[in-house]
Amino acid sequence: MANVERAKYGAAAFAGLTGKLPGPFPRTIGPNTAGYLQEVLESGLSCDMIGRFERAFAEELGVKHCIAAPGCTPSLAMLASALEFDHADEIIVSPITDYGTLQGLIRENYIPVFADTAPGSVNMSAETIAACITDRTRAIICVHKTGMMNDMDPIMELAAKHNLVVIEDCCQAVFSTYKGRPAGTIGHAAAFSFDSEKTMGSDTGGCIVTNDDDLAERMRFYGQSRGAKMQPHFGRLHVVPGYAFRMPLCTAAVTLGQLEIVHENVAQRDKMIRLQTELMAQIPGIIPLPIPDYQEVYSCWMVCINLAPGAFTCGAEEFGDQLAAEGIPGAGIGNYYLMPEALTFLNENAQAGKYPYSKPPASRDYRYDETTCPTAHDTLQSLVRWSTFCEKYEPEHCRLAAEIVRVVADRNRS
Ligand SMILES: Cc1ncc(COP(=O)(O)O)c(C=O)c1O
Repeated sequence: MANVERAKYGAAAFAGLTGKLPGPFPRTIGPNTAGYLQEVLESGLSCDMIGRFERAFAEELGVKHCIAAPGCTPSLAMLASALEFDHADEIIVSPITDYGTLQGLIRENYIPVFADTAPGSVNMSAETIAACITDRTRAIICVHKTGMMNDMDPIMELAAKHNLVVIEDCCQAVFSTYKGRPAGTIGHAAAFSFDSEKTMGSDTGGCIVTNDDDLAERMRFYGQSRGAKMQPHFGRLHVVPGYAFRMPLCTAAVTLGQLEIVHENVAQRDKMIRLQTELMAQIPGIIPLPIPDYQEVYSCWMVCINLAPGAFTCGAEEFGDQLAAEGIPGAGIGNYYLMPEALTFLNENAQAGKYPYSKPPASRDYRYDETTCPTAHDTLQSLVRWSTFCEKYEPEHCRLAAEIVRVVADRNRS
């Protein structure tokens, strides 16, 4: 691996991006954050900052439990183990997402099944999910990509009919709403990320929220107590291979501070993305992601546009490069989000019949590549995105971004 260019995350991924528009870094930090950090230090690391954050976040969302972890990836790993499904049970997952959505379920030897996206959307729909349900399906992970909510009512109805657990991946959608309900309060459990570049940017962190008492308890047992129960006259007895995923105290302090400013930030993002969408929709050949009526708050983390078929002489990659050169920092393609194509090891394992793709425990063959979800693949072929969009945008930034899109569009018309 010596010559491999390793992927970068957090502020490192944004370092060196230049342009004419603001970016998320340096992040704005909530005014009480330094005080919370000081409390952690002055308590000699003995204060309950994690519990305070967990209670505050659960209360904001109106749910019973929040279990904090060092990121969303470990949060979903805790959840995957706590679900106690059998090896090779199938989990239906959005195809356009981050690796973090899948890591835990792969480690639990569950099998991801990617349902296609709905046409014109970056999310799945009840119809695309229904086509993937088998007698091995146990759960559905709906990713609210870019902050755009899945149409959850029909998905919940379908899940109830087939007795499936619904998990919301809200990493890009903190405090988005769907018919008056915040993201993360509709399914049986939901995951959040507090990565430094996310909307509630903290010093990395994440959590699961749920109203299910048993599930919450199992998550703490599997995810944080290393699967250990206290045995009288002995001590810790590890009865399952658990994790040690506790959110660090200092991260909890920063995350609590960021929670206090998140609504203001989300409101600004919502207002600005609606203006940005309206302005870009006026440019021939440019199709911004449509914002459905059921979404009152669009906590947008990433701007996406699609290039209309045949409208331009260049492809999405060249278009994105030109946007970046004209001043939209980090504009580019989003192909890497297509998980069935990006997780090359998964297809190798499936083709080689490596456990859990051996039969048993699997009951059929699987294949993961660019043909797995053709609609998602086609959508990404013509998609340009920038994740430097943030709460620092003001109307003049939306107008400038739209003007840059117009200049590049006019330059490349067919
Ligand atoms: C949709 C989605 N799911 C999961 C993750 C993983 O989150 P974390 O980096 O906190 O582990 C991310 C982060 O990029 C994400 O965007």
